[in-house]
Amino acid sequence: MRTFFGGRLINSSSSLPDAKSSPEADSSVLQIWGGHPLQGHVKISGAKNSALVIMAGALLCSGDCRIRNVPLLADVERMGQVLSALGLRLTREDDILDVDAREISTSKAPYELVTQLRASFFAIGPLLARLGVAQMPLPGGCAIGARPVDLHVRGLQAMGAEVQIEHGICNAFVPGSNGRLKGARIYLDTPSVGATETLMMAATLADGETILENAAREPEVADLANFCNSMGAKIRGAGTSTITINGVEKLHSTDYSIIPDRIETGTFLLAGAITRSEFTLSPVVPDHLIPVIAKLQKIGVPIIEEGSDCLRILPAEKLRATDIDTLPHPGFPTDMQAPFMALLTLAEGDSIINESVFENRLRHASELNRLGADIRVKGNTAFVRGVPMLSGAPVIGTDLRASAALVIAGLAAEGKTTIQGLKHLDRGYDRLDMKLQQLGAKIIRVNNEASADAELHTNNSNPPASVSI
Ligand code: UD1
Repeated sequence: MRTFFGGRLINSSSSLPDAKSSPEADSSVLQIWGGHPLQGHVKISGAKNSALVIMAGALLCSGDCRIRNVPLLADVERMGQVLSALGLRLTREDDILDVDAREISTSKAPYELVTQLRASFFAIGPLLARLGVAQMPLPGGCAIGARPVDLHVRGLQAMGAEVQIEHGICNAFVPGSNGRLKGARIYLDTPSVGATETLMMAATLADGETILENAAREPEVADLANFCNSMGAKIRGAGTSTITINGVEKLHSTDYSIIPDRIETGTFLLAGAITRSEFTLSPVVPDHLIPVIAKLQKIGVPIIEEGSDCLRILPAEKLRATDIDTLPHPGFPTDMQAPFMALLTLAEGDSIINESVFENRLRHASELNRLGADIRVKGNTAFVRGVPMLSGAPVIGTDLRASAALVIAGLAAEGKTTIQGLKHLDRGYDRLDMKLQQLGAKIIRVNNEASADAELHTNNSNPPASVSI
């Protein structure tokens, strides 16, 4: 099978489904018949947020990067297109992505691509470090909040870059004859994941030592540091709030495997919890899931570790309400907030969910209410009163994790749930519907708009024969 990344030929034995990157993803819907327990085993893919930033990090390498365990996602495909537009050569086969970054042909990233994928802005750090110049369109806001890039910009300025924002483009260059950034001590007002990653990558090739304080501690930051170190970078402390980077002149080729996706793992745990199922998940890094597993156990969901990289979820007798405050790692992850809210709609008692990382990340509440949930939203807080059951209905996913929340609710709702807005889901979940099917869920993707429309007006309580797998 052959696919293309931004016009460059990719040899791939598992191409991205067409629907993921094309307008069809918008016209297709997921249909779920809830109430069926899941069983078996689910294989967890590589972490989306690691893959995207590690692909950007490949810009630092003056050789070949082989990146393994790369998930099949629309966002990964878009990041590939950004790198291709910058002149890199990419080849993908299954979950292995080869990036040849010897030549970078331009310092200017294309507007249409960067505005579709916020993480592509993070490439400003490695581009500037490698070329001494970068022109990066501002990524803009998105459905969950304004998402500024001031911390990225201020950090690069502290490292000696001149940065001007004009006509929506962030123009950065390093003055001086050698075009090399200088090490600096940088305190981040907020432990931003993206800013930590941008500045850590920039510092790998800078002249001297950079110290990032109040850095993000997410596992994906440590994964990026491990990737950079495998190319010869000198980074210490990633995964803690102080990261020290000693700049080197050049980075060499590498062969690196991405960590498992903790958010995908958490999403499957929630799917298991809401359907009162027993199944196993691997590979996982249980330490990356401590806040999620702790909450699940607190509300009554038994989860056991089997070996070092496998989890087993067991059916809960009863789900109890709990309160959640989203926080930077190692606090409860904002990316799990929407999916967890779906579970709490069926927990006994009142739960309070406070979203403190992003300013507009509760839009799924009204869609969950369409399925029979009882949620009131005030500001950034959702008050969830547990109900005995949900009932299937047509709903729309407004962002990536909101869509996952609707899938989880749909798995438990009586009758049929039809979910629109799959372009969001496909950005960040590697074949979620197929993996759920393999676990025994009654879920299908309907690609034809007309038949989807017709289906939206019925609410059969039984799936068609083709879903009985
Ligand atoms: C990353 C993740 C995303 C996750 C988020 C928080 C990727 C590709 N995405 O996003 O899935 O939800 O971390 O865990 O890794 N902020 C500023 N100024 C800046 C940068 C950020 O004020 O320059 C603020 C943001 O508006 C937000 C907070 O910091 O309120 C956290 O954002 P940040 O950690 O930067 O998120 P991302 O890196 O964009």
